[in-house]
Amino acid sequence: MLKILTVIGARPQFIKAATVSRVCAAKDDVSEILVHTGQHYDANMSDVFFDELAIPRPHHHLGIGQGTHGQMTGRQLEAIEAVLLEEKPDCVLVYGDTNSTLAGALAAVKLHIPVAHVEAGLRSFNRKMPEEINRIMTDHVADSLFAPTETAMGNLQREGFSDDKLHLVGDVMFDASLFYRDRARRPKDLPDAIKNGQDFILATVHRAENTDNSTKLSQILDGLSNTGMPVVLPLHPRTKGKLEAFGLSVPETIHIIPPVSYLEMVWLEGNCSVVATDSGGVQKEAYFFGKPCVTLRDETEWVELLETGWNALVGADAKLISETLRNATRPETETVLYGDGKSAEKIIDALLK
Ligand code: UD1
Ligand code: UDP
Repeated sequence: MLKILTVIGARPQFIKAATVSRVCAAKDDVSEILVHTGQHYDANMSDVFFDELAIPRPHHHLGIGQGTHGQMTGRQLEAIEAVLLEEKPDCVLVYGDTNSTLAGALAAVKLHIPVAHVEAGLRSFNRKMPEEINRIMTDHVADSLFAPTETAMGNLQREGFSDDKLHLVGDVMFDASLFYRDRARRPKDLPDAIKNGQDFILATVHRAENTDNSTKLSQILDGLSNTGMPVVLPLHPRTKGKLEAFGLSVPETIHIIPPVSYLEMVWLEGNCSVVATDSGGVQKEAYFFGKPCVTLRDETEWVELLETGWNALVGADAKLISETLRNATRPETETVLYGDGKSAEKIIDALLK
């Protein structure tokens, strides 16, 4: 029996874990212990995903969110170490690039427990992003690195990882999009015109580099509001807090709604005309649902979307945002970029071996 201990804590990790945990549950020779760090804690940032995606209840909930990076990561590290000493798993599985990812990986490696990293090898080459530090550190202490793309594999090879640690498995978010696409649910709080089929832009904004700078945040709002199309913006709590702190008012054409569930997000992605986002996951989901994406950043880890014409980088420049949104079209040629929808199976099979 392989005992996997999975550390999750932030919204995108619940969605990634839903797919992998389902595969674990179907295997007789795998048991999974789920640890929720508590990094995301509002009901619409956490519980809703466990309920809707039938993720097993976490065996351990650490209740550690908020604070500075050092406070959050340090407190999580200490608490995860105690859980690892009690549970003695065969390996620790972590996802992505959040503070919970780094804390899980670091706690495990210090106890000589093998670390498996899902979404390994992504690089923005911008070390001012907290996520870039988290992912580099996590990759470099991991024993099994599960890369979603050829680009991620290339990054790891250039950083000198031996081939026996590397696995090109595709993207577990693509698996999720295939599994859940037929269960999409329309969110409640939409304007009638959009419910009745009016074209709209789906936007999300939460990246620290955008939210923590009032000029950038107001440029983004300006850019989104000047396209002639209404915008639906499910608002991340971080961004909500910053809009209030900066006293920024939101133009009328931008319909703010609370964070939505994954199945509601799938409805929005399936029904919008174009996506504007600084989210990593949402950039890919735009492509999964056949929508062009305008990325509110200066760089992206998902460079294959730029190369194939699905995505354009616009930073936080109001004029460029609105022009690019007005002209956004999807490429005519289909390309398969994120695997075959069986990434989660490949990850668990590799860990069993
Ligand atoms: C974190 C991740 C980021 C990921 C994002 C996904 C790090 C460094 N960042 O960013 O990589 O893309 O999650 O959404 O790990 N808050 C609430 N309620 C919640 C959660 C957050 O009010 O349920 C507010 C709090 O004021 C909190 C702030 O949002 O301090 C930021 O939350 P935090 O988890 O530190 O970072 P995110 O911006 O969510
Ligand atoms: N998402 C969601 N509800 C929302 C916004 C996003 O379910 O209101 C989902 C989205 O579909 C994707 C994931 O959350 O699967 C992306 O998470 P987020 O943008 O918070 O983080 P990132 O991917 O940038 O780390």
